Amino acid sequence: MHGHTAKTHKEIRHKQSINDDDYHHPIEKIEQLKRFEDIFRDKKILEVFAGQGNLSKYYNSISDKVFSMSKEKTGDSFNYIHKIKFDKKKFDVIDIDSYGYPDKLFPVVFDCLTDNAYLIFTFPIVGVNCLNGITEQHYINFWRSNRPTIGDVVGCITDYGLRNWQFCKLVDVSKIKRIWRFIFKIEKQKATLICNTKNR
Ligand SMILES: C[S@@+](CC[C@H](N)C(=O)[O-])C[C@H]1O[C@@H](n2cnc3c(N)ncnc32)[C@H](O)[C@@H]1O
Repeated sequence: MHGHTAKTHKEIRHKQSINDDDYHHPIEKIEQLKRFEDIFRDKKILEVFAGQGNLSKYYNSISDKVFSMSKEKTGDSFNYIHKIKFDKKKFDVIDIDSYGYPDKLFPVVFDCLTDNAYLIFTFPIVGVNCLNGITEQHYINFWRSNRPTIGDVVGCITDYGLRNWQFCKLVDVSKIKRIWRFIFKIEKQKATLICNTKNR
């Protein structure tokens, strides 16, 4: 993927696995988050794929209501998110910081948000070269396109939110090397208002 040879791809996986900063860009991610610091301060924050905790350190410095899901603590995040939903826990900020696709957390994360919340996630930018057939179909299945654009992501997120009568507004997107970091504001709406109808 992304035009790397098999060898460099293996090296990248290795560096990711030893948590090399060059591969998860904590400084750039924190710079972006700092622009929202006044909004996120003291909020209930859920970190998904917290890993070795660079972002956790930052989040814990602005709030004492941070829950960090990591492989070591809560196991596979794709499964544990369903426990958060089952327990009816809700968060004002959810940050999904995976290396790969965040898609399988959607739409369940939408059920874990408070009525006025922020959803942040990492999205690998699809390069021009070397997409294999399965990766390509995966992107089509989740994001409508084999090379999703920012607009495709915004459209899909909007649709996911509407299932729960939530409006999703893109408030920031930052390109950091080979990823985008999206920040959406997610607001619960009254179905009766959207549909201009009264409950009987
Ligand atoms: C981009 S890194 C997270 C970096 C972290 N936010 C930080 O600032 O230090 C992604 C992390 O998710 C972990 N991971 C990969 N698959 C996972 C899974 N299925 N469930 C939970 N964690 C996973 C990886 O080991 C890695 O530590």
